[in-house]
Order: sequence, then structure tokens, then C-alpha cells
Amino acid sequence: MNLTLRVWRQKDRHNAGRIVEYPATNIIPDMSFLEMLDVVNEGLIARGEEPIAFDSDCREGICGTCSLVINGLAHGGQRGTTVCQLHMRHFRDGETITIEPWRAKSFPVLRDLVTDRSAFDRIIEAGGFVSVNTGGCPDGNAIPIPKTEAEQAMDAAACIGCGACVAACKNASAMLFVSAKVSHLAHLPQGRAERDRRALAMVAQMDQEGFGSCTVTGSCEAVCPKEISLDFIAKMNREYGKAVLKGESAHAEAGG
Ligand code: SF4
Ligand code: FES
Repeated sequence: MNLTLRVWRQKDRHNAGRIVEYPATNIIPDMSFLEMLDVVNEGLIARGEEPIAFDSDCREGICGTCSLVINGLAHGGQRGTTVCQLHMRHFRDGETITIEPWRAKSFPVLRDLVTDRSAFDRIIEAGGFVSVNTGGCPDGNAIPIPKTEAEQAMDAAACIGCGACVAACKNASAMLFVSAKVSHLAHLPQGRAERDRRALAMVAQMDQEGFGSCTVTGSCEAVCPKEISLDFIAKMNREYGKAVLKGESAHAEAGG
């Protein structure tokens, strides 16, 4: 396959970026999108030019590091697929492909297609963990967990923290990510002890990081490579609302 790439090049967050055109020639259809970029970069390096910077790690769809907007769609628009698992056979020979980084104020561009997603780390640091003492490793089934609860927790835990939900949202909202992390722990007995503090702290950090509000457009769910459901946003809203009400009643009881 021979393709034309239109790639966002940007030296750093302080310099303006621009689209630059590159040919991608002799691409094998079974290559992944990132392998195709590797081939283009080998050519750039051989010519003494600066390679295109992009993020990747596992290249198996499990780490959440890869993050490209391809032809306007986060992860390229193949349902339930990260860009590292997207293959060139989904494109046409001779096609022109536009490649951009995640676009969100809270994910500033570091270089070319690489963005700073540490805002997600800070949201997790605010409450996305269990700090109560849960004891040693219990025997299997020693803590009975209803199957539906376990399945919901597993579905939420599938979130790989890639940030595509933010990139696809016109408000740059992080609600799908945060709701997955809040719901994952709220569905398990070990996570329930801290559920109120967790929901309040993670939502407060999300707001502090400058992510936008959710207006339920569903674009996040449509691009999510792990098909995290919008239902988790409703679950998080319930968790948050209950935590606020409990805090207000405790305040009233204390005579505040
Ligand atoms: S909810 Fe989906 S799109 Fe958002 S960070 Fe998690 S895996 Fe990525
Ligand atoms: S590189 Fe790990 S999910 Fe794509």
C-alpha cells in the first residue's frame, strides 16, 4: 500500500504546531498503524530528519499509552480497538490519512503526537485506590460477591486510562474515565468503605484539572477502546450525590 500522511508536528508545548505531509510507501496491509509509523520514521531517520514522536508501550491494547486521532476519530474509529491494534488493511491504497494528537486543554501537547496525560494520574492519586486494611489474601469465595456486582466491577476495571473519551468529547469531559474508576471500586466490598471520600475527591480533582462538564453526547462511549458504558456515569453521579447528601447531613447533625 502507498499512502499520504498528514501529520501534526509540534516542537513542544510552547511552539505552534502544523500539519506536515509525508509519503508512506510499501506498507504491508497486516501492519499495525504504529508499525506503519515506525516504517515512516525509519525513512525520516535515514534522511537525517526528525522522527515523528508518538506514544506507545504494550502494543497489545492493554496499557492505554497509544493515543492518536486518525481522520478526526480517537483511536481511528474501529469499534473497541486501540490504535496499536488497528491494522492498515482497514485503509485504502492511495488514501490520505490525517494524524493528530488528543486535543484537550488538560492534555497539553508535549511533542508532535505526544500529550501530557498526567492529569489522569492525579485524579487516581486523589482517590482511585483502597487504603483501608483488607487483610491478607482471602480464600476464593470467602467474601461472597454477587455475580452481577463482580461483572460490573470487571467491566469498569477494563478502562485503560487512554484518554480517548476526553479527546472525543466536545467539552473535553473526563467523566467516562472517572466514572469507570469510581464504579470499579464501588462495586466491590473492599472499595465500599471509602466510597464517599473517593467520589468527592476524584470529582474535585477532575474539576481542578480543567476537564469540561458532561452533556451526555455519548461520543466518549463511541470511541472507547474498552467499550466502557455511559451507565457508569449515571453510577458515578449517584455515588457523588449520596456522598454530598451524607456530608451535608453530618454537617447539620454537628450543628453546622
Ligand atoms: S473510559 Fe475508555 S476511552 Fe476513556 S480512558 Fe478509559 S478506556 Fe480510554
Ligand atoms: S500501546 Fe498499549 S494500548 Fe496501545
